[in-house]
Parts: sequence; structure tokens; C-alpha cells
Amino acid sequence: MNILILGSGGREHAFAWKLSQSSKCNNLYIAPGNAGTSPFGTNINISPTDFPSVKTIVLQHQITMVVVGPEDPLVKGIHDFFLADEELKHIPVIGPQKDGAQLEGSKDFSKQFMFRHKIPTAQYQTFTKETLAEGLLFLETLSPPYVLKADGLAAGKGVIIPTTLSDARQELSEMLANAKFGNASAKVVIEEFLQGIELSVFVLTDGNSYKILPAAKDYKRIGENDMGLNTGGMGAISPVPFADEAFIKKVEDRVIIPTINGLKQEGIVYKGFIFIGLMNVNGEPQVIEYNVRMGDPETEVVIPRIKSDLLDLFIGVGNGTLNEKTFEVDSRFATTVMLVSGGYPEEYEKGKVITGLDKVEGSIAFHAGTAALQSANSQTQTITNGGRVIAITSYGDTMDEALTKSFANAERINYEGKYYRKDIGKDLKKYFS
Ligand code: AMP
Ligand code: GLY
Repeated sequence: MNILILGSGGREHAFAWKLSQSSKCNNLYIAPGNAGTSPFGTNINISPTDFPSVKTIVLQHQITMVVVGPEDPLVKGIHDFFLADEELKHIPVIGPQKDGAQLEGSKDFSKQFMFRHKIPTAQYQTFTKETLAEGLLFLETLSPPYVLKADGLAAGKGVIIPTTLSDARQELSEMLANAKFGNASAKVVIEEFLQGIELSVFVLTDGNSYKILPAAKDYKRIGENDMGLNTGGMGAISPVPFADEAFIKKVEDRVIIPTINGLKQEGIVYKGFIFIGLMNVNGEPQVIEYNVRMGDPETEVVIPRIKSDLLDLFIGVGNGTLNEKTFEVDSRFATTVMLVSGGYPEEYEKGKVITGLDKVEGSIAFHAGTAALQSANSQTQTITNGGRVIAITSYGDTMDEALTKSFANAERINYEGKYYRKDIGKDLKKYFS
């Protein structure tokens, strides 16, 4: 098969790494990809939301499957675009159509969906500019902290958790009246704050049957001990020690099955990943959010733990035979530590030369934000090209063993301004003692 992966991050590098291991994979293309994806296939410099260019590439390279990494093209309807085109409609797209993508594209839609299907989630109400006054009154009925969510996609920045009522009132006004997140905050979901420990569970579905992929824990804040600004994710661990079989069974019964059945009942044909962000509240799962794609950097620990042929699983997603596919998981731990640019998640510089990639030993360096640069003497250098630069993934029989390798290799790679969290996994150590 000829596969096109859309996206340019560590997630897409992990997909390319895994799909290229399949005997069914002939040619791999990544659009736009990064310096890490090029050894596995051909990078093509187009935007995943430029659908006409995606079509040109697909026809030019006789692509037989499209794997969509990020949410943007899904929410904008790339799968629908394929289905509506005579020349493309037979090509399987891994990722939901626009209707299913609303699970991520609209927080209000996803909360309503969860309530319709009795999926455990925080109590909430949704407000618009017209109902701002009611929203301000609603805040007074809650106790701090307050959870305010822009309804639409806001590049991962749309959730604000003020700790005082006056900050919450001000934020709500800015989101609704001053369009703080543009159209994304035309509606705002205010919800009850859930106290617990977070984890993510991933599901791959063909719309009928599903496979539960390994769970992972992400580290979202820039600073150690979960301090500072939110990022795309600074590291990840899989498996999650507090998500034992009994907990995952609760997630399956209370969240996964009602979600798959709910989509079917509503006539939504869903083929792709469902990323379920969960809060473990005293052993009981509550859904924080759905995403309609894999997480990044969670993919960099989840995919390496899948022993089965991922392309064969994707074929099952495409033609509705996922139930016939075997699915095996590596019992080892996988950890990833994200190296980021100095200043991230605020302003940062790109174009810093990365050294030491050839010194990495016993880990996989998944590139998140890198580019290849031809220097004057026609040697290729790898340079930084994003806030998150490289995710260093390692396996281990214990979490500590895997982390030791990731941290050792984090020291071997260098570029100006390199930063990473040295406490990834630290909060989980208590579960092993
Ligand atoms: P989201 O973009 O929906 O993942 O939200 C970003 C982060 O906000 C989550 O990863 C949680 O840490 C936090 N969060 C979201 N909703 C809640 C909630 N209801 N209670 C507590 N924390 C929340
Ligand atoms: N790491 C969180 C996300 O991919 O949304």
C-alpha cells in the first residue's frame, strides 16, 4: 500500500516509524513531515488543511490510505472531502468525518453527547455573548476553582481554570464579550472542577468494533511539579500504574461502549482514534474531554507498545473488519521526555542546530519540531523548527529503567536553549513502592 500521513509532529514520526515496519507498506509519504520522518518516506511540503493539494498528492503518488494526525483537517472535513470526490472516495481515511470530529471541535457538542449517553462527566452549562449575565450568575453558584472552556478549537489553549470568582468573571467576559479566542469562544462551557489524577485512554474503532490501546499519562505544564503554563505535553508514560485492569474495565463499560454505541445511534460513522481524557476521581472515571486523534506526546509511548501490525489494524478500520484483527501489547513500560525550545510555550526561536542525535543509545528520538537544512558544504544539518523539538522514547521492564534511558539521551542531544522536565514520572513512583 502507499500511505500518506498528514502532520508534522512527534505523533506523525511515531506513525511513520511503526507503519514502515509493516510488510504491507510499500511507499510512505508524510505531509509536511519533519527531519525525523524523511528516513521512512518522502516528505511533501503541503499543509494538511489544503485539501486540493492533498488530492493532487494522493493522485500523483497513487496513495491507497490516508492517516490524519492532527485534529484541524478532521474538524474541517477532510474525510468528507474524500467521500464527496469521485476520484478519492474509495481511499480509506483514518480519522472521523466532520460530524464525529465535533467531539473535539465543539466542547458544547461533546458535553451534550456525554449527557445524552449517560457518560460520566462534570456538570456544566454553556453560555454565549447573549447569555453572559446568566453565565456570571452561574459562576456564583460554583465553588473555586472554576473551569472555563472555549467551545471551539483554540490550539490547546482554550481551557482556563481561574482560582477566584473575580478572575473567573473577568475571563468569562473576555471570552464571550471580547472574543478572546475569536470564534472559538463564541460559546463557553463552564463546568464543575474535578479533583483527581488525569490519564488518557485511546481507542481505535471502525465504527462497530474497537481496540483499547495502551493508556498513557501526559505532563502538560512547562515547569516541574506541574507548575507554569500549559504546553502541548512535556512527556508521557505508559502503562499508567493507577489504571489497573479494574479501572480500565470501568472505562470500557461506562465510557467506551456508550461512546461507540452513541455514535452509531446518532448515525455518525466513526473510523479512527478516540482519545478519551479522563480524571480518575477516587477510582471512578470521569471524562474531561474527547479528542478525535491520537495525543502528542502520548503517541510516542502508545504506538511503541503496540506489537501488532498497525497498518493491518488501519486496514480493518477502513473496511470494517477490525474485529478480525489480532491486537497485542508489549508489557514493557515506555516513557518519553520532550526536549523543547527555550521560551516555549511562549515566544521561542527556531533554527538552532541540533547536535548529538547520532549519540542517542537505547532510545528512539521521535522528532516533534525539526527541519533539515542543507549547509554550504552540502552537508545536512538538523535544526529546531518548533516549540516541542524531540521526544525521547525508551522501553524498560520498570518505569525507572525506561526513564533513566530517556533522561540519559536527553543529555546527549544539544541545541541552544534546550529545556526538558526532569521530573517526568516522579509523581507515579509512589504506586510502585
Ligand atoms: P482540555 O483541553 O479539555 O484537556 O483541558 C485542559 C486541562 O484542563 C485538562 O488536561 C485538565 O488538566 C484541566 N481540566 C479540564 N476540565 C477540567 C475539570 N472539569 N476539572 C478539573 N480540571 C479540568
Ligand atoms: N498531549 C495532549 C494532546 O495531544 O492533546
